[in-house]
Amino acid sequence: MTGSGSVNGIGFGIAKKCRELGMHVCLSDVREEALAVAKTSLDLVEGSGGIAGVVCDVTSKTSIMGLLAECRKQFGDAPIQFLGVNAGIAFPHAPTVLTGAQDEWELAFKVNALGVRDTLKYLVPTMLSQDSKHRLVIELTSSAVSLMSGFFGPYSASKMAAMGIFEALYAELACRNHLDRVSMCALCPCRINTDMLLQTTKVARDADPASRLQINLMKAGQKNAGNWRVDQVTDHLFTHLQQGKFYCTLNHMDPATGKESNDTDLAIASRHESIRTKAPPDMIRDLLPFLDLAIDEL
Ligand SMILES: NC(=O)c1ccc[n+]([C@@H]2O[C@H](COP(=O)([O-])OP(=O)(O)OC[C@H]3O[C@@H](n4cnc5c(N)ncnc54)[C@H](O)[C@@H]3O)[C@@H](O)[C@H]2O)c1
Repeated sequence: MTGSGSVNGIGFGIAKKCRELGMHVCLSDVREEALAVAKTSLDLVEGSGGIAGVVCDVTSKTSIMGLLAECRKQFGDAPIQFLGVNAGIAFPHAPTVLTGAQDEWELAFKVNALGVRDTLKYLVPTMLSQDSKHRLVIELTSSAVSLMSGFFGPYSASKMAAMGIFEALYAELACRNHLDRVSMCALCPCRINTDMLLQTTKVARDADPASRLQINLMKAGQKNAGNWRVDQVTDHLFTHLQQGKFYCTLNHMDPATGKESNDTDLAIASRHESIRTKAPPDMIRDLLPFLDLAIDEL
């Protein structure tokens, strides 16, 4: 499970569920200290499998190959049944096309898009070559923004690319007749209160209204973000997997009713309607009212 070094994070939540289901679990993250804390926490969760913690930077092929080698060392010939491609990065000061720094754009694509491609490229063939009686699972933690009209600078652009990579892999596995033994699921969360989300609602770029709007939206959305707990997100993912679903999208929870809204579904439908009718992306119409909101008011 890449990017599972934060005990509050989605990757750790999925890893916890895998442990509860009796699997060996290999946590992995680029942050060594956080990973050690996560491993200690997972040790406290009841389960029959072993636990490993392996530092891995998904932007490096050598590092990904090292993760595979370490899994083999720790768990011998036990087949890799579940691959979670979860590592991701967002930025605190809302970069945009016009004002984002070159290194922010490059890092976003290195981690969120090429990191996904490389993790799949170097680990999936090993999974397919195993003599396993279990169905194989390949999970991508993408984002709801990967299916809507893009707005969040390099974050949404790179998450859209990640979804494209994942969909392409699905088609490639179909061409090779592997889908009878492989399940793929793209988890597309809305806002969930994890460390990453809390770090992305800082201060906008000066003189960039689009950056300010991003921060406003994140802060507004954060009020609802806590309504999904990570364990609920994880349960949602596993239910979708059991039902053979590919896209696992999350709407926000309506705090008034405690029920799921349909805002993500509507935004996705709206994107597809714009494409079908060849109209400009209509999301900006929905976003404009937020533009005048002062950050401090939210
Ligand atoms: N929290 C949300 O609201 C939300 C919404 C949509 C999608 N997501 C996605 O969910 C995934 C998990 O995020 P989270 O919200 O649980 O936050 P998180 O910060 O707990 O998880 C992201 C993890 O990825 C790790 N990471 C960053 N760069 C890496 C690299 N180069 N190599 C390996 N690991 C690296 C980080 O150290 C971190 O532990 C991410 O892909 C994120 O984009 C989160």
